[in-house]
Amino acid sequence: MSEQQAPDIGPVFDALKPDVRDEPESGIIRVANYAWQAEDAIKLWVGEGDLPTPDFICNAAAEAMARGETFYTWQRGIPTLREALGRYHNRLFGVPNDPENYFITGGGMQAIHLALQAIAGAGDQLVIPSPAWPNYAAPMRMLQIEPVEVPMAFESGVWQLDLDRLFDAVTDRTRAICLNSPSNPLGKVTSADELIAVRDFCRKRGIWLLGDEVYSRFYYPGDGDNRTIAPSLLECCEPEERLILANTFSKNWAMTGWRIGWLQAPQSIGQVVENLIQYNTSGVASFMQSAAAVALDEGEPFMAQQLERAQTGLQIVLDTLGARGDVQYQRPEGAFYFFFRVEGMDSSDANTRRMIDEAGVGLAPGTAFGPGGEDGWYRLCFARSHDSLRTAMDRLCTWLDKR
Ligand SMILES: Cc1ncc(COP(=O)(O)O)c(C=O)c1O
Repeated sequence: MSEQQAPDIGPVFDALKPDVRDEPESGIIRVANYAWQAEDAIKLWVGEGDLPTPDFICNAAAEAMARGETFYTWQRGIPTLREALGRYHNRLFGVPNDPENYFITGGGMQAIHLALQAIAGAGDQLVIPSPAWPNYAAPMRMLQIEPVEVPMAFESGVWQLDLDRLFDAVTDRTRAICLNSPSNPLGKVTSADELIAVRDFCRKRGIWLLGDEVYSRFYYPGDGDNRTIAPSLLECCEPEERLILANTFSKNWAMTGWRIGWLQAPQSIGQVVENLIQYNTSGVASFMQSAAAVALDEGEPFMAQQLERAQTGLQIVLDTLGARGDVQYQRPEGAFYFFFRVEGMDSSDANTRRMIDEAGVGLAPGTAFGPGGEDGWYRLCFARSHDSLRTAMDRLCTWLDKR
């Protein structure tokens, strides 16, 4: 051994911080990695639509680059985009048109991460109904925050959000309740009354409400419901209360690969959020921000097209897989996922692999979504081309008949 060689102090891997080292791979990514080799498999495990970003947004980014928007920029986000967010939320929810409540992030995921960093730390707990998108519980564990997942019950064809059970899970270590509506993976929408009940409880206990409404424009109202957008915490909370919302350009404007989103928070914590951005990523590329502002101001026709496409996609799934006697589900009220269970198909992890190999269809296993989604549940994304959805449903139903 030369004098420069490091002394043997054990494997490098063991020297990592345990909370980060021991976090397992995401169950959705596990399927994705397995399925990459199966080129013909129809990819319905994904969390995105298959339409590319529309030209008017791409062109705006190219023009901004050509204008020279290639330098460091505002940590909180460029004023043009924050103003556009003010207008957008004012138009949609009637909240004050104020840019100071918005902070531009590297996608919705980073917005969630920053929110977690701002409100909780080692030993704290966050309460979250389950099944839930795994990217809440995993980053919490990595930050030594304990996710307290409260399983919802699937009863009489409906996922029940038992508020008493949710509130009973709150302890003196709880820093926040997380609410994602419309929900990934369930497509369930939390009603305005339920949102108010959670808001009242959080106010009473002095804890934060971490909201995620990234799918709120994908809303499928039932008979007699005149809303065009899912009920929002913004409609029942004040600008200066303990509410942080994570949001993203990924879904509504088909911009998943861009990695741009935003965090909506009280103005009084603005400097802290700016510091968090500075010391994490130091902001988002300014040419992307200029394009995102154009998406907000001019994106409604595209949004309408996406919604109609997803609604037809949902109908295709309901008329085929959903019409089978051996399949159970709650009809999605929002988002673009169909979450279902098949009689006698309990091991969703192993079965998703079989479906890829034998049916040529890739789904996400329910186990990926926490204790509430355990065995026997599967998530399918229906924001896909109608032809590929029809083929996928045909393959899946034939495979289910033969199994
Ligand atoms: C519920 C939910 N929140 C946030 C996000 C984050 O979106 P992104 O990081 O792609 O902007 C996703 C993405 O799948 C999601 O499903």
